[in-house]
Parts: sequence; C-alpha cells; structure tokens
Amino acid sequence: MDLRIRSFEQYQHDYSKSITQPDLFWDGIASTFKWKKKWNSVVEWNFNDPKIEWFKGGQLNITENLLDRHLEKDGNKIAFHWEANHPNDISKSITYRELYHEVCKLANGLKSLGVKKGDRVCIYMPMVLESVVSILACARIGAVHSIIFAGFSSNALEDRIIDAKAKVVITADGLNRGDKKVDLKSMVDIAIETCSSIENVIVLNCLNSSPTVVSKRDIDYHHLIESQKNECEAEIMDAEDMLFILYTSGSTGKPKGVVHTCGGYMVYTSYSFQNVFQYEENDVFWCTADIGWITGHSYIVYGPLLSGATSVIFEGIPTYPDGGRFWQIIDKYKVNQFYTAPTAIRSLMSFDENLVTKQDLSSLKLIGSVGEPINEEAWNWYYEKIGKSNCPLIDTWWQTETGGVMLSGLGGISPMKATYAGYPLPGIDPVLLDNEGKEIHEADTEGYLCIKFPWPSMLRTTYGDHERCKNTYFSNYNGYYFTGDGAKRDENGMFRIIGRVDDVINVSGHRFGTAEIEDAINKNKYAIESAVVGYPHTIKGQGIYAYVVIGNIEGDEQEIINSISESVSKFIGKIAKPDKIQLVKGLPKTRSGKIMRRILRKIAEGELSNFGDTSTLLDPSLIEDIIKGVKG
Ligand code: WT7
Repeated sequence: MDLRIRSFEQYQHDYSKSITQPDLFWDGIASTFKWKKKWNSVVEWNFNDPKIEWFKGGQLNITENLLDRHLEKDGNKIAFHWEANHPNDISKSITYRELYHEVCKLANGLKSLGVKKGDRVCIYMPMVLESVVSILACARIGAVHSIIFAGFSSNALEDRIIDAKAKVVITADGLNRGDKKVDLKSMVDIAIETCSSIENVIVLNCLNSSPTVVSKRDIDYHHLIESQKNECEAEIMDAEDMLFILYTSGSTGKPKGVVHTCGGYMVYTSYSFQNVFQYEENDVFWCTADIGWITGHSYIVYGPLLSGATSVIFEGIPTYPDGGRFWQIIDKYKVNQFYTAPTAIRSLMSFDENLVTKQDLSSLKLIGSVGEPINEEAWNWYYEKIGKSNCPLIDTWWQTETGGVMLSGLGGISPMKATYAGYPLPGIDPVLLDNEGKEIHEADTEGYLCIKFPWPSMLRTTYGDHERCKNTYFSNYNGYYFTGDGAKRDENGMFRIIGRVDDVINVSGHRFGTAEIEDAINKNKYAIESAVVGYPHTIKGQGIYAYVVIGNIEGDEQEIINSISESVSKFIGKIAKPDKIQLVKGLPKTRSGKIMRRILRKIAEGELSNFGDTSTLLDPSLIEDIIKGVKG
C-alpha cells in the first residue's frame, strides 16, 4: 500500500491534520494494513503512568502484513539481496515467497521446541538472511524477540538473557567481519552457564567450524527446519501485545529492555519508511546498520518488508577488502536509497577518491544519515561525492525508544539544510523546553527536546520495570516524553540535534551509558574508582575517555591500562573499549562526594583551564595532577 506524501504542501496538510485530528489521521493509515479484527480506539494514553495504547482491541499478525500480503502479486519479487563479507564469496537473493516458507519452517521448528506466544527468544546472530528469518519466525508465533548485537560480549549477553528470562537462543557458530572471524557459539555457552531459563540453543552453521555441541540443548538450525512444514498459521496478536524487546543504554544502571508492540510499530515503521526514503515500487533500498540495533529492526526488516520493498543486506564492513566496498555494492545492486551513519562517512572520506569515482553511483536517488550528528564536512562530502550534488541528503533523528524516524526531511520533498535533521514527521509533536520545563516558542532557540503527544511506535515500557520507564522518560518534564537530547530550532522550524544532555555517549553511532562503562572498569582488579566521559573524536563522533583511580600498585602502567581495557571488552564488548585511559590518584569531587564530570569533560576535550566555579571542590590539587597526566 502506497502511503507516500508527494509534495511539501501535502506534508503541511497531513502534518496539521495529524496534530489536530490524530485519531482520524492514524485511523486512515492503519486501515491500509491487514487486521484480523479492527480496533475500538485509535489511541488512549497518559504520560503520567505512563500508559500508551494504540489501536486497542485490534488484532493482527505483523508477519501476515509483511509476507502473506505480498505473496499473490509479489511472491517472486526479491525481498533481500544478501551480499557476503568478501566480494568473491557467493551472494544470495531471496524472494518474498521463499522468505515466507523459510519463516514458516523455523516458526514450526520453534513450536516443536515448545516456544509459545509471549516466550522470549534471544537472537545473537551475524548479518545473514537467517537472522531476518529468525526475527520473523518469532513474530509469526507471537514469541518476543530480543536481538543482541553480535559485538556484545558473553557477559553482556548473559545480562540480557537473564533480564528477559529467554527460553531459547538462536545463534551461529560464528561470523565473518572483514578479515576476522568471531566465534559466537562459545560466547553463548559461557553466557548461559548461569541462565536457568534457557532450554535450547539453535545454532546456524556459518563458518563450518564444528562448535561444541551440548546434547539435547543444542540444535542445528538446518536440522531443526528440514522436516518442518513450510506453512505456519500466524498467531493472532492484540495490537498491544509485545513484538520485541531491544536493550539500550541509559545514563544509569544496566541497559534496559525497550518494549515495542505489534500494531503501532507496524503502522509507523512502514509509514515512516515510505515517506522518509520516498521509496517507490521496484526501488532497491540499502540500510547498512546491523540488525542488532533499532535501525536494523525498523529499516532493514520491518519497514521495508511491510512496504514490499527490495533491500540489500550486507554481512561485512565498509573497509574490507578496501574502503570502496559500500560504493561497489551500490553499483552492483543499483541501489536507489542508501542509508548509513556519519561514522562510516567520516572514515570513508579519508580513502582514495578513486574508490568512489570508479563505481557507477548513478542509480542513487536519495542518501540518508542516522545515529549521530553529522558534521558539516561529512555532510558536504557525502552530498557531493556520493550524491553527486543531485540526491537529497536526509538526516534522520530518532531513537531505540521512538521505534521509527521522528525528525527528517522527506527525501526530495522538504527543504534540506546541512547538519539539520529537519521537520517532524506527521504525527510527531516535538517541543523545546527550558531549564524550568517551560516550552520555548521563540524562533532560533535551543532547549531540551521533548515530545508532547504519543505516536504509534513509541516505547510502551522497559521490560520488567515500568517504574524505570517512567523515571527515565516521563518524570523529568511532567506530561512530556523526554528524549535525552538537546536541540536547536531555526526560524523556519527546522530542528538540529545538538547531542545528549545526559550521561549517554554516542560512539560511532553506538550508544553507551558512562555508568555502564564505569561499572565494567570498576570490576578490574586494579581499579578503585573511575569516571568516564565522552570527547570529540574525528571519526567516531565521540570517543571514550576513562579516568581510573588505582591503588598504590607498583607495575607497568601500560599493562594496567591494557588490563582495564580488557575488562570493558569482557563485560560489555570490544565496541565499548575506551579510546583513552588515564590512571589518576583521585577524582575531582565536591565536598558532598559528587564527581565533577564537567571538569573531567573539559580536560578530555583538551581544555586545560577556565573550569568555572571550582569552589566546592574538595581537593583542587587533584586537577593539577590530572592535567599533568592528560592523554593527548
Ligand atoms: C540517540 C539514539 C536512531 C537510530 C540509531 C540510534 C542520537 C540518533 C541522530 C541524528 C543527531 C542522533 C541521539 C539519540 N542520534 N540519530 N540524526 N542526529 N543525533 O539509536 O542507539 O537509540 O540512539 O542517538 O542522541 O538520542 P539509539
């Protein structure tokens, strides 16, 4: 079903309708999907509990909307072109019909293991088609998927399995990433030693590496599906039944499980996909994210499939075998819409330009950016060298919690301004608040970015801890959803994201809580205490700077630093390793014992004076010491 807005005038019209008559607006969009039973009310909500319900009383199965619905007309259409890690490896394509049968077989396989509606299934997988199949097989039978990015360590996996009380893990023996192979199965084995909820581990063979098999518990993926029927009746789900959990970092504590539900998420991911990317039938779309992040959930799997799109899915990394891999893939599949992160752009900008110019990129109609602020230099390079100055470049701001894109240009339709994410999508009512929590209405101002009205794909809760959801998102400003970001709005109402205003850092588009990294560091035998801050990093956007207090240990400094770095790798994953670790005698604290992060941030940014008011500091001499040892 085509849900596209075709002009800026239509955008303005639809936007205003979505704000003044949200029920009518969303009723119209939702009616274009296949429901088993229509809803009784479009939206019921309050941001105090919070309680948010969309399409209540409606019943559906999302997989019928993204598979069955397309079979008759588009059964032979390619759903995915899968591109392997190395260009010489064999790539594969899968049609909607083939995908449907694969999903049904695995769904039946899961059922044969006793997985039922509401059970949680963890997916810890490479970027292969079976990951998509696993996700959809869960959705088919009403099991809740919780995908864990395969770059997380076994400890991180363990925490998430325990929190979700998952029954099954779907994994692979290992994965290919550039010239490295990563063993996944042994990570799972370690992770689940303590997880009593796990009954089975399904293992896909990707590397032919014969992993250890624990009999009865471990099941070969292909063995499980080979004798299953290729049809599986879709479980009937209430619109507000859980579709998935996705863990994400916050400013405090362990990562929390953001919960998305079936009806609203379906409606919004499809609507936003078609509009933001202006996807037209027969276009080839490519989102380079990993399926383990929300970008992959919404714009590799759900949004494109719901819209009957053909997408590329890529196993490898942008720099292997060389920095031209992305451009070569665009050329190979004649990609029309390309969606990636500023980090990738910044890193690819430094390679020989010939890697870009030798490929034919003329199929591109639109290029997009996501995950972190895009700086002007990267914006210009992306627009000129990749988009050849004639493709709209859309920046898209959103979050794990929002489920879909909130602020963005609609490709080629709304005005474009370098480094600005643009306008809110229909249905999204963003506001800027000041320090007192009052809405700022003046043009050209900055404030805390909040959202005033619910939208279909917003988070409903944090798994197992509703209070935490309330405290994190709905308590800072009464009656608003608080995003954690600061933003600027220009005189035309366009938004530019400034960055997080809490203790969350964004490293290469990956989100970490500073507290979470500190916890990992503090588990190291040398560490007594630590403080982690972000600092500007030319490629990653933000780098991780860790100040670590160690005892009076005689030892090789580098060895201690390596050991601390290893702890982060062990407890979170290599992706969270600090870029800089400075060993210090003590941390600057106020008399009441609070770490003065503001000062530590300045030092990490290279600003070694003008610390503002330091009168509450307990021991100012510590600052001198820290400055002496600062890591350049
Ligand atoms: C945080 C959310 C959106 C999916 C990937 C990240 C930052 C996201 C942008 C953008 C500036 C951005 C925000 C946000 N962010 N997109 N276009 N410009 N900042 O999802 O891991 O939940 O992270 O990423 O700070 O709050 P996430």
